[in-house]
Amino acid sequence: MTVRILQVGMGVRGRQWAEVIRTESCAVNVGYMRPELDIARRQVIEWGEPDTPVFDDLETAIRTLQPDAVLLVTPPDGHHDQASLAFKYGCHVLCEKPLTEDLDESIDLVRQADEAGKLLMVGMNFRYLGVSQKIRQMLHERALGEPGFGHFVYLRNRDGRRPDLNKFPLTMRQPMLLEQSVHHLDLMRYCYDDEVVAVQADTWNPSWSTYADDSCVSALLEFRSGLRANYLGTWTSGWNRFCFEWRTDCSGGVLIQKQQFEELYQAKMNPESALTGELFKTGPEIEPLQPVAVETTRAFYDDTRGLLREFAAAVEGRAPLVTSGKDHLKTLGLVLACAEAARQGRRLLMADFYRQQGIPDEWL
Ligand SMILES: NC(=O)c1ccc[n+]([C@@H]2O[C@H](COP(=O)([O-])OP(=O)(O)OC[C@H]3O[C@@H](n4cnc5c(N)ncnc54)[C@H](O)[C@@H]3O)[C@@H](O)[C@H]2O)c1
Repeated sequence: MTVRILQVGMGVRGRQWAEVIRTESCAVNVGYMRPELDIARRQVIEWGEPDTPVFDDLETAIRTLQPDAVLLVTPPDGHHDQASLAFKYGCHVLCEKPLTEDLDESIDLVRQADEAGKLLMVGMNFRYLGVSQKIRQMLHERALGEPGFGHFVYLRNRDGRRPDLNKFPLTMRQPMLLEQSVHHLDLMRYCYDDEVVAVQADTWNPSWSTYADDSCVSALLEFRSGLRANYLGTWTSGWNRFCFEWRTDCSGGVLIQKQQFEELYQAKMNPESALTGELFKTGPEIEPLQPVAVETTRAFYDDTRGLLREFAAAVEGRAPLVTSGKDHLKTLGLVLACAEAARQGRRLLMADFYRQQGIPDEWL
């Protein structure tokens, strides 16, 4: 079966989605929708799909095409209304992250999907990077012993005024958390295969930020297993060099991802070495950092392909949906708990936060 998709949104991310679907046999774009019809017409020609119909009204597009699924690649503040319309017409929904900006709207969409008996997937594509899959596998297999703590650092100077960047984050609430950290917090949940039980966090906006709201996030996450993770993410760095590091310290060594989409290393701990030699080891006696082979993935494309295949398999009933709306409630819940912990200036227990937000226990 080929899943017939109506793609809504043809911006920065929409262009990537269109290429992925064009080159995948499990799905086909039967139409596109965006409010600016003249631009849409030009785009389908440019993308080599001149015969694919374009629309400037979502309801008309759904009624005309009767797609199996609606793919939402639009700014997050429109996701709730657009997904609701898709469910009303009996379509599955694949929605870009964040599912919505407020948890009550996401809860409502998960409920609508359940009631309609349709699938709701959220675009957490970075789970499908080769490096993410490898981290998840190695930690699951306890290749370096028991994970104890991690730190995740993402320092980027993302000037939101650049012409090739989307513009809605410039004015939205908590742009770093909702647009970027959502991926990082989701990756930690997914790769650690663990859930956060408590959060401390702060968010702020440096004086030279191009964003109206906070572009820096610092969080300390406490996982069910006892693992702690320190997160620092910014779009307003003081240096244009992009710095990424995700390190997890385990009882038998460390696992370090050094680049955003690749470069994984491990060092195996030699406990004897802690008892002898230099007190602050920096020289040749330290355990060597060895590269870990990971499947090479073209970021934003091959990972999205993985996501699309998961979706198509679920539509066909061949496999359950993992990256579902219900699962996303825990990632989005974590994102919004960080904002709330920062606002209140205190540690929040996730169980209390979920309850206050009205997420049913059986969904967690
Ligand atoms: N998963 C990822 O790796 C990734 C990467 C970038 C963006 N995103 C997400 O993709 C979504 C879109 O981001 P983008 O960068 O493509 O934004 P963009 O601003 O570049 O494009 C948005 C598109 O949505 C269309 N649109 C706006 N309002 C609409 C409406 N009411 N109905 C239909 N179409 C409408 C616009 O015409 C445009 O084509 C966001 O949720 C963003 O977070 C995800």
